[in-house]
Amino acid sequence: MRTAAGERLEVMIEAQQIRGRVEQLGEQITRDYEDKELMLIGILKGSFVFIADLARCIDLPLAVDFMAVSSYGMSTQSSGVVRIIKDLDHSVEGKHVLVVEDIVDTGLTLNYIYGHVRARGAMSVKICTLLDKVSRRQVAVPVHYKGFEIPDDFVVGYGLDVEERYRNLGDVCRVTRT
Ligand code: IMP
Repeated sequence: MRTAAGERLEVMIEAQQIRGRVEQLGEQITRDYEDKELMLIGILKGSFVFIADLARCIDLPLAVDFMAVSSYGMSTQSSGVVRIIKDLDHSVEGKHVLVVEDIVDTGLTLNYIYGHVRARGAMSVKICTLLDKVSRRQVAVPVHYKGFEIPDDFVVGYGLDVEERYRNLGDVCRVTRT
């Protein structure tokens, strides 16, 4: 893909590898939630590609909702401040909720969302993330399903951005300044 001036991309996880892993996660979730009323909650914007693929790999009559929270803004450093920009449209009361996130970094965002959804009366709340930067964790969050553990590099693609760029990449790529 063409890059913005001064940026270089290096493939970390290829699209085909992501597809295979997402299929596995979908099969596992299908087994785990059989006979349960499942609602996926995607965290915008980063999870939009992952949730679209994952939902189609889950063979259950599930519901989908979205939340948007503030994250890094225009910087690549977590501010530690989480603010709800878009709340859920539907009630989660009595539902089994699976929060779908693109990446867990410090854990601050998911820690907040996890508490928020639990407080809304969900029957169960679990977390599914495509990527996990384990070494960066500041608060412990229970990640029940994960695609890949990655090192402490800034990545883009498959929904993830740097200043809104590269969400449309099929691969997950390391981005560096030249
Ligand atoms: P946390 O609150 O530090 O766990 O950050 C989670 C959010 O930070 C994610 O939902 C992403 O929006 C963003 N983020 C963390 N690491 C990266 C990265 O490597 N690339 C792009 N966005 C990231």
